[in-house]
Parts: sequence; C-alpha cells; structure tokens
Amino acid sequence: MTGSEQAVAVAHPNIALIKYWGKRDEHLVLPFTDSLSMTLDVFPTTTSVRLDAAADADSVVMDGLPARGEPLRRVTAFLDLVRDRAGRRERAVVDTHNTVPVGAGLASSAGGFAALALAAAGAYGLSCDRRTLSRLARRGSGSAARSVFGGFVVWHAGAVDARDPDDASYAEPVTDARLDAAMVVVVLEAGPKSVSSREAMRRTVATSPLYKEWVTASRSDLVRMREALRAGDLSTVGSIAEHNAFGMHATMEAAAPPVRYLTEASAAVLAEVRGLREEGVRAWATMDAGPNVKVLCDIPDADRVADRMRAVTGSRVVVARSGPGAAALAEGR
Ligand code: DP6
Repeated sequence: MTGSEQAVAVAHPNIALIKYWGKRDEHLVLPFTDSLSMTLDVFPTTTSVRLDAAADADSVVMDGLPARGEPLRRVTAFLDLVRDRAGRRERAVVDTHNTVPVGAGLASSAGGFAALALAAAGAYGLSCDRRTLSRLARRGSGSAARSVFGGFVVWHAGAVDARDPDDASYAEPVTDARLDAAMVVVVLEAGPKSVSSREAMRRTVATSPLYKEWVTASRSDLVRMREALRAGDLSTVGSIAEHNAFGMHATMEAAAPPVRYLTEASAAVLAEVRGLREEGVRAWATMDAGPNVKVLCDIPDADRVADRMRAVTGSRVVVARSGPGAAALAEGR
C-alpha cells in the first residue's frame, strides 16, 4: 500500500429508556433483553482512523493522550474484527476526541464505538449497510449498536435459537415514535467509575436473585414503551423509563457483592425530580452505570428543569434533545 487510507466519523451518546443490562454471550455481545434509547445531540465523539502499513501495532490516542491497558486492548480487538472482515492486515492510527466525560455513566462508549465502527469500516474499505454497522459497533460496546442511529432506537436482542445469533442482534430506528422530548443531563461526577459496566453486568447476571424477574419485567416495559412512543405520550414514556431504571439498579444492588452506582447526590436529584412532578412539571429520571441522572421532560420545560437541577447540585447541567446517528466526516487516500 502506498499512502494511507483514512476516515473520520462522529457519533453521539444515547440514553436508554429501557435498559440493556446483562449479556448472554460475552464474545458476541449479545444481550438478554431488547433495549430502547434516545440518541442525544450533545457530547459527540469524533474519531479518525488512518492505516499505517509500516506500523506493527495499532496506536490509539484519546483526547490527546496515548491509550494503554484495557481501553487500548478493546480498540485493538475491535480493529482486529474489522481487519478480519475486510481481509486486511495493516495496523491503524486512531485519534479520538470525546466531549463526554469518559467512563462516568454518560455512555461515552456508545458514541465512541459507533464513531470508531464507522471510521474503521471507512478506512479499511469495509462496505456495510447501517444494520451491519450497528452489529459491528455492538461488538465494541453493546450500547454503541444504538448510537449508529438517531432519535429513538431499539436494539433487538435476537432470538436465542436464531441460526445466526450475531446477525439477529441489531439496532434500528423506532420509525413510528411520535415524541419530541428533552433530556436534561446532570453531570454529578465526571471521573471514571469504580466498577465497569461490563464487570457489573457479569456479576449481576451471575449472582442477583432478581435478575430473572428483571428480564421478564423489561420485556413488558418495552412493549408498553413502544405503544407510548407511538401515541406521543410523554407521561407514560417517562414513568416506564424511570421504573425500568430503578428496576435495573435494584437488580444490581441485589448482586453479591452489591453494585451501587447511585450516590447521595443522585438521591438529591431524584427527590428534586419528584418535587417537580408534584408541582405539575412532567419530568422523569433515568440513571445508568454511574451517579449521573438524566431527566426526560417536555422541551419548553427543559431550561426550568435544568435550573432546578443546578440549584440543588451546583453541578454542570446540559440540556439535550434528540440527536443524529453516526456520520462520516471525511475519507481519503
Ligand atoms: C447501564 O454498552 O457500556 O448504560 O456492552 O459491556 O460495553 P458493554 O456495556 P455498555 O452498557 C450500557 C449499560 C447501561 C444501559 C444501556 O445503555 O442500555
């Protein structure tokens, strides 16, 4: 090869309204349940992948610093998958810029692996449709399958007895959703979390006596959530999402040893969200693998909700709306 093939892509995080928690296949990243999310229009990750025929290892720079250890291993393993599919051997130089705090339960891996999947596919000349791209991103981080698409997105777990389980587990847009809502992101802690979601999921599946019940509850939550999105019914969407998130956290707290991501600051935000509802503001919370809380509300109420969250926490609060799917920015030789 002379010169180098390069591609750049951008993708945004997504916040699950029906959570993904637990893998039935760690290698293929196949979940036990379907999940459903909203892609945000804030905190994009931009990633460039350039092939380097002379290099004997991948080099990965994240926000200006060389990646090492587990983050480097994950990116390299992902590139191996792309190389394998493309029938290529060249190593790559990966440069990624996050505007979302990494590892703090703000879904940096979702936008991160969605952008990496698109950029790596471009650089290695792997042509794939959006569904295939979402299956590829899934292998980097489960939730990344959803960030390939904008708006409301459902990720199908795929039938357990599917002939090709990898093929059956992909994300796609919820095309009949009739809701436009805001997501107010309360950034309580920007540092990396103590237990990775990968490890926490593993522990929950292996030891939590509530896990099976959560899987069953999540299935019916998803059916009702899809109906509520179709009806454009924010109150039902919000209350199902909040209940689903609390269920996920209760399930992991019942693991041995317990996994606890929520802090006193999270509890204060949750109390404020309840308070807003008592005042008649339509606002519901959801929380992921970290203390941060995201509040789903009507767009005209978002600034008021954000002000209240700032007053109670003194933290950074960002108002997000529905955002776009992963997009290619540049490609060349
Ligand atoms: C709580 O997608 O980060 O945010 O597949 O192990 O990389 P891995 O996990 P990841 O988990 C996200 C979990 C969650 C819920 C969700 O986004 O659905």
